[in-house]
Amino acid sequence: MLFTHVSVMAREVMDLLRPETRKRYLDGTLGGGGHAEEILIHSSPDGQVLGFDLDEEALDAARQRLSRFGDRLVLRQANFAAAGAILNEIGWLGVDGIILDLGVSSHQFESPERGFSFRGKARLDMRMDRRQSLDAYQIVNTFSAPELERILRQYGEEPQGRRIALRIAAERKMKTIDTTEELADIVARIKGKRERGHHPATQTFQALRIAVNQELQNLERFLESGYELLEPKGRMVIISFHSLEDRLVKRAFRKWSRNCLCPPRTPTCQCGWNQKVKLLMTRPLSPSPSELDANPRARSAKLRAVERI
Ligand SMILES: C[S@@+](CC[C@H](N)C(=O)[O-])C[C@H]1O[C@@H](n2cnc3c(N)ncnc32)[C@H](O)[C@@H]1O
Repeated sequence: MLFTHVSVMAREVMDLLRPETRKRYLDGTLGGGGHAEEILIHSSPDGQVLGFDLDEEALDAARQRLSRFGDRLVLRQANFAAAGAILNEIGWLGVDGIILDLGVSSHQFESPERGFSFRGKARLDMRMDRRQSLDAYQIVNTFSAPELERILRQYGEEPQGRRIALRIAAERKMKTIDTTEELADIVARIKGKRERGHHPATQTFQALRIAVNQELQNLERFLESGYELLEPKGRMVIISFHSLEDRLVKRAFRKWSRNCLCPPRTPTCQCGWNQKVKLLMTRPLSPSPSELDANPRARSAKLRAVERI
């Protein structure tokens, strides 16, 4: 299957990263390799990109698509949350730019056998990294109803989270819930057919995907000290698609940009913190109307960026 994913806000990402030859960049969410390709083109002839993805299929596709760049591209099946350790491993002291374009690619979403989509019928899987044991089947069939409810409400902002969780718990007593189709049917029976053009199971599937892949935990781990990966004047761009992700990014960037973290009115600073980055924007950027026309999937994207000082 051809790898299909249209890179989101590629022009804005390049304007902010301003790739240059002989510089090094980290693409922590390689996906189809679209952003990485742009960085490699703009940093010709000697810029380098280290690309991570949890998904082996994405790496294989990117390896093929970007083969013409030879050893300017280094690929790892890795989690961006562990970026520091991998930079050490390959002997890079830091990078001049980082892009994280969070979530799943259209390719993952549209590959029915991966179980990310409520369309089609597949085993409940949803793992980006297929070496991982936790999958959607386990969550749906073994997590307690209160835990399921928390996942649906928190990650899917699903107002009917409680009813759906209780129904799942009741159904699985009779028979395990094996497929995307079975789960989508259970949710549709509770929520009715379609709301505002969305499939009724959209939020349930999103919530499970976030839980299976620990998406918020990975982002939090990265944001603990991600600025340390940047060389002075190096830039970091993060595109998120979920309000919880954007909130984490906003808070971390604000913290990194402050010169002191002591409570207000503390007479002398005791935290020892100093400013790590400069904010490149106070409000997040969104895709332009023309991008949204061409790629409606970009609609919830929010982009934030900082520069290391
Ligand atoms: C939205 S796509 C990226 C698309 C890419 N920027 C492009 O232009 O083609 C997100 C990708 O990040 C990967 N991913 C998500 N979380 C990850 C993590 N914590 N570490 C590494 N890769 C991750 C997913 O498997 C997916 O392939």
